Amino acid sequence: MLPLLNLGLALKHIAMVQGHDNPTLEPAGSSIEAPRSMSDTLNQKLSLHGQAISTVLKSAIDAEASTGAPQGLLDAMSYATLNGGKRLRPFLLVETAALFGRSDAGVLRAAAALECIHSYSLVHDDLPALDNDDLRRGKKTTHIAFDEETAILVGDALQTLAFDLLTDERIHKDPAIRLKLVSGLAKAAGASGMVGGQMLDLAAEGRHGNTPPQQSLHSIKSMQAMKTGALLRFACTSGADLADCASDDLVRLEKFGTIIGLAFQLADDILDRTGDAAALGKEAGKDAAAGKATLVDFMGLEAAKDHLAAQIKQADALLQPYGAAADTLKQTAGFIASRTS
Ligand code: IPE
Ligand code: IPE
Ligand code: MG
Ligand code: MG
Ligand code: MG
Repeated sequence: MLPLLNLGLALKHIAMVQGHDNPTLEPAGSSIEAPRSMSDTLNQKLSLHGQAISTVLKSAIDAEASTGAPQGLLDAMSYATLNGGKRLRPFLLVETAALFGRSDAGVLRAAAALECIHSYSLVHDDLPALDNDDLRRGKKTTHIAFDEETAILVGDALQTLAFDLLTDERIHKDPAIRLKLVSGLAKAAGASGMVGGQMLDLAAEGRHGNTPPQQSLHSIKSMQAMKTGALLRFACTSGADLADCASDDLVRLEKFGTIIGLAFQLADDILDRTGDAAALGKEAGKDAAAGKATLVDFMGLEAAKDHLAAQIKQADALLQPYGAAADTLKQTAGFIASRTS
């Protein structure tokens, strides 16, 4: 159970993210200031939302101290999660739930569960045995700041914490929906989702003692749909499920999640080619050096950028039926393509 004080704070943050009752969104004298651009508003929402997620994650990790968890492990879990990630997956979950009329502490808790899985995936992705990276979110990777064995265990503990968070009845009053989320997250994170995608990603580098398999547009896209797409798709479908949306809405949001999942990894691969470590908060130029299978490599940089723009247009079109209510989600899709970190 999260301490009430922290939940109250997180709820206040949610109201702020949704733009209600938020003094910082409407400072004194704001009526005479020029209106903020859409991206300023989105950035502010993302930042407020990030603080809310950090509050829930901090409470959840701190709460483990009273149940006998070793402090060294909890410190490393905090390091791996409370460290400046964009919090895009939980943001998509919260905004999808809000589109269908739900925004409360239970939604934020589900969003924090998803961020636990994502943060764990980054800790393990950076390990020497996988991508061997020293920099993440602008800081030393967890295995460098602590040690390799601690980083492996941090990933394990964040993964189980995610499922523990999802069992709480505040997530949804109907246990069947909670079970649906547990099963959905397990599949999105597991052998047919993120972990399976990571395996295929490494295989494409010629790991596991095999010659790298011949890649095609289809094989790269299906690997990326697993390694990155599955969690982003889950962000959208779980937000919709939490708000008891109709089945045709769920199908629409699943398609939206699938498209932005592919777009997200494509943007990541473009940034690996064009970005720099200072802006990215992680090393650039790693994919080509490792011989990774990316669409940038397969189709060339300019064609990859065009493909990304086309995907964002498609994502936008899917949300047209919701009108202005879906503006934040549409802007988030745009942000995925235009981000620099
Ligand atoms: C990076 O994800 C890993 C990929 C799936 C490509 P993010 O770019 O969302 O990482 P953070 O959470 O903001 O650090
Ligand atoms: C990793 O993809 C996706 C995960 C499942 C963590 P990348 O290896 O391209 O992610 P970065 O570039 O290290 O963030
Ligand atoms: Mg990787
Ligand atoms: Mg990596
Ligand atoms: Mg990458």
